Amino acid sequence: MIQEDARPFAGSDHLVTVRDSRLEPLTIIIYGATGDLTWRKLIPALYELYSLDSLPKPCRIVGTGRSELGDEQWRDRLRRGMEDGGNHDLSRWEAFSAALSYVQVHPDAPKQFDNLAATVRRLNGDGGNGANLLHYLALPPSMYEPVADAIVRCGLATEDRDGVGWSRLVVEKPFGRDLASAQRLNQKLLAGFAEHQIFRIDHYLAKETVQNVLAFRLANTIFEPLWNRNHIDHVRIVAAETLGVEERAGYYEEAGVLRDMLQNHMMQLLAVTAIEPPARWESERVRDERAKLFRSLQPLPTDVDVFDFITLGQYAEGVIDGRPVPAYRDEPGVAPDSLTPTYARIKVFIDNWRWQGVPFYLTSGKRLDRKVSEAVIQFKEVPNSMFRGLAGDSMTANSLTLGFQPDEVIKVDFLTKAPGPRLRLRPASLSFDYSAENAESRIDAYAKVLLDCMTGDHMLFWRQDGMEESWRFLDPILSRCETCDERRDNLHFYPAGSAGPQRASEMMPPRRT
Ligand code: BG6
Repeated sequence: MIQEDARPFAGSDHLVTVRDSRLEPLTIIIYGATGDLTWRKLIPALYELYSLDSLPKPCRIVGTGRSELGDEQWRDRLRRGMEDGGNHDLSRWEAFSAALSYVQVHPDAPKQFDNLAATVRRLNGDGGNGANLLHYLALPPSMYEPVADAIVRCGLATEDRDGVGWSRLVVEKPFGRDLASAQRLNQKLLAGFAEHQIFRIDHYLAKETVQNVLAFRLANTIFEPLWNRNHIDHVRIVAAETLGVEERAGYYEEAGVLRDMLQNHMMQLLAVTAIEPPARWESERVRDERAKLFRSLQPLPTDVDVFDFITLGQYAEGVIDGRPVPAYRDEPGVAPDSLTPTYARIKVFIDNWRWQGVPFYLTSGKRLDRKVSEAVIQFKEVPNSMFRGLAGDSMTANSLTLGFQPDEVIKVDFLTKAPGPRLRLRPASLSFDYSAENAESRIDAYAKVLLDCMTGDHMLFWRQDGMEESWRFLDPILSRCETCDERRDNLHFYPAGSAGPQRASEMMPPRRT
């Protein structure tokens, strides 16, 4: 086991995440205040920042939704959510929750938005001028446009010309459901907000271990010379979950795994693994490289069977953690004959000099046998192995695993001589546990994205051009998968708690470690 060196590390402003001096007084407005995302992720993340003394002072949090609720009722709900979520020290909750208030709004009721604007001005105590506003759309995708519109109409999107009072809009994923709708949504948003005001979120980019990939790749010299088609055989990127669809069938039936995970989180994991080094560590330069990578994705040839490149699956009933769980089709809100995929493995290629011919296998699925997100870089075998005669099929090539969650390890697998008078080879590994030494300075991914919105740093957010490239790649695949006559035959059912459809394992070389 490699120990992390305790010496202070070289840092830049970008690496400072908590107690940031750029934080300015702020009002956060959450649209969808009674929804899942708010109590599961946003409020715990804001509470974490508060507990770390890392929220701006003052920071007010206004929840909005269609339900008629009082401040106290909303606070109570959130507190219950925090209790259910476990693992929170709630000793500072009373002080934190004093900053929470609730306003009822409906996008079709302009008066309610005027009331929201008046509340925000009153809370700011200065007539609203110079106040910084962070609007968070924690809403179903169909609500992004009408709510963004209503924010503009009631005047809360306006920024002061002197730059003192800013107004930023955070848009959750999925951003559109195909290229055309993503472009349309973008145009609508740009009618009321400037590009610098828009933050298109992908919380995977803010995970510590995902951020660490670029540091690992580009702050060291030993791996980068190997990071190309000459040395790498293929790359496997996985985000597997044991969770099912939970209470989100309404959304998930529309999205499926391709829109829920592949178009966004998996593409960003691909990007950190494969982008070119930018010249400087600056948001726009990093986003340029990400967009360039997505633009280099090789379109699926039109004359091939799409299912030679992709396997789609749906979970059947099975057992997770010793507990029987229902099939996807039997989950509340799911159509009994649903063809929505909950699993996908896709083989993609990148058309550039570095990656030509190297397959990247992207896999994501729900109700699998374990929760794991990782990228495995599989190196080629040695060109001429003098040990082949000795080791036979047990001869393995090197691999490097970048574990994102839950195991936050970087692990290199290699072969060594087994001790003893006869020459035998055996696999060995070196690993570094990212989580071991960093416990107190790390923050949750949602806390990180919120903090970056507050400081105005776009590094870990999608830019529209990258977003469009990702859809441009996926669109033809989606339409071929969703409209073909054999759609039903190409949905492979797998038992919940298994490793996924058998066909998917036939698509990818087996892991040999
Ligand atoms: C969300 C998806 O964006 O990411 C969910 O909508 C998925 O379906 C979740 O469960 C996974 O996130 P994490 O951080 O738990 O890996």
